[in-house]
Amino acid sequence: PSSLIIDTDPGVDDAFAILLALSSKECDVRAVTASYGNVALDKTFVNARRIVALAGRTDIPVAAGAARPLVHVQAEVAPEWHGADGLGMQSSGFPEPGPADPRPALDLMVSVLRESSVPVTIVCLGPMTNTALLLAAHPELTPRIGRIVAMGGALGMGNTRGAGEFNVYADPEAAHRVLTQPEVPVTLVPLDLTMNCTADDQWLETLSQAGPRCATLVRTAALYREATRERYNLDAIALHDMLAMLEAIRPGTLRTTPHRVNVACTLGPGRGMTVPDRRPDASGPLVDIALDTEGEVVLADALRYLSTLG
Ligand code: BDR
Ligand code: CA
Repeated sequence: PSSLIIDTDPGVDDAFAILLALSSKECDVRAVTASYGNVALDKTFVNARRIVALAGRTDIPVAAGAARPLVHVQAEVAPEWHGADGLGMQSSGFPEPGPADPRPALDLMVSVLRESSVPVTIVCLGPMTNTALLLAAHPELTPRIGRIVAMGGALGMGNTRGAGEFNVYADPEAAHRVLTQPEVPVTLVPLDLTMNCTADDQWLETLSQAGPRCATLVRTAALYREATRERYNLDAIALHDMLAMLEAIRPGTLRTTPHRVNVACTLGPGRGMTVPDRRPDASGPLVDIALDTEGEVVLADALRYLSTLG
């Protein structure tokens, strides 16, 4: 099974993704690290610990990382999608949070990497600040990172201030650090894929029927479902992070195309854009961008995994 560090900002779709990993026998979750993102760090940290508690996995260390982006003071948040509590105003339906690991997220990541006898996959489900700090502070550990799978970016329509995708827009400098480094292979799962691979009411209802834990999870998505209908006039929700997780657990689930990617880090309307350099003579590291999959098969697989939570 793949060994995972989950770097996350829960977040409704983060909750689906984390619980997918915890319900799969194909991966070994070694740590969860929280970042600011969908809501502020104090809330994402508690939410991450509530989510592991829901799965009965309080043995997994959960640590708090960055409270703000690398360069800019302002942390972007998205309570209009995820609720003020980050879990669709349903966090009270979760068990009490599991223990808080006292180490900073960076130290926890370092100790997991040092102790692991196999390459570790880092799954980035939020702003890439924690992971960028790790790469910058511990270049000697990059050989121990087998792969980074990050939900983020958009080649077409963005979802934050126009052209940006939330996770990249929230910390473009961090995303740039992760996406342009040559040491660790990166798979990027952008909006272009996640907006085309959505969960409808039937999917949510079937999951909800699988048992009380699944019902708790599905309740977090109600507000997100409403926001999707009102703002995008869509009848199914994009559980972005869940698709990245499926790729991390089962490499090759998503079909990827290699691109050189730059991140627009300037202030202004292009901030946070992921810009592919398509020139045949372009140089620099390639990022595998997931642009295609069998949507129905993948969603059916996710439903099957999650349902085992009961
Ligand atoms: C990404 O931003 C967050 O709102 C979601 O959790 C996901 O990681 C989608 O743009
Ligand atoms: Ca997220």
